Amino acid sequence: MKFFIDTADISEIRELAAAGFVDGVTTNPSLVSKTGRPISDVIKEICQTIEGPVSAEVTATDLDGMIAEGERLAGIAANVAVKVPSTWDGFRACRALAHLGHKVNVTLCFSANQALLAAKAGATFISPFVGRLDDIGLDGMELIREIRTIYDNDTSLATEILASSIRTPLHVKQAAMAGADVATVPPAVLRNLAKHPLTDKGLASFLADWSKTGQAIL
Ligand code: E4P
Repeated sequence: MKFFIDTADISEIRELAAAGFVDGVTTNPSLVSKTGRPISDVIKEICQTIEGPVSAEVTATDLDGMIAEGERLAGIAANVAVKVPSTWDGFRACRALAHLGHKVNVTLCFSANQALLAAKAGATFISPFVGRLDDIGLDGMELIREIRTIYDNDTSLATEILASSIRTPLHVKQAAMAGADVATVPPAVLRNLAKHPLTDKGLASFLADWSKTGQAIL
């Protein structure tokens, strides 16, 4: 499973990319607004840092507006994936933008049928929002499993499942086990994947014993 980073913060992206864990980046209007900078500058800078797909979301809600904005965003760099919402016009815009040769990430997906429409519209990625389903008492990870089954049942569907709205390390593990192709992960959650209290405890004990030997490896 690939890791995308769910942030528009360029310093976080640079740091995690240097560690070798970033296969791509996802942004959305809320994340871009936090930077206080123009979206074109933010996306251009991220695309110069990351070779993999960088999602940039349209904010128009009508078909023509989404296509026009999508073409503008795709023109920023070759690795931009245009994000469109899981609405009727969003699926139509997905088809049009995919036909023009652009990568498309269909976002705000909350049902398997939306994922089916996105794949049939030629989406590069479908973004099911796991955490937001959990927030309202549903099982977000069950949606990932449903989409995996549907896509595996029809090998003509080439869309990748991009598990989104990931909030915890448990979500990351469950998404990988459910067959997600990608998980987009907030920087703090990615760092937390490394943590285990028994690792810290074991390391402290090994180092305490080692210090008694008076040895140095180098
Ligand atoms: C990613 O593409 C989504 O925009 C993001 O994962 C949403 O996460 P949130 O539900 O934590 O805002």
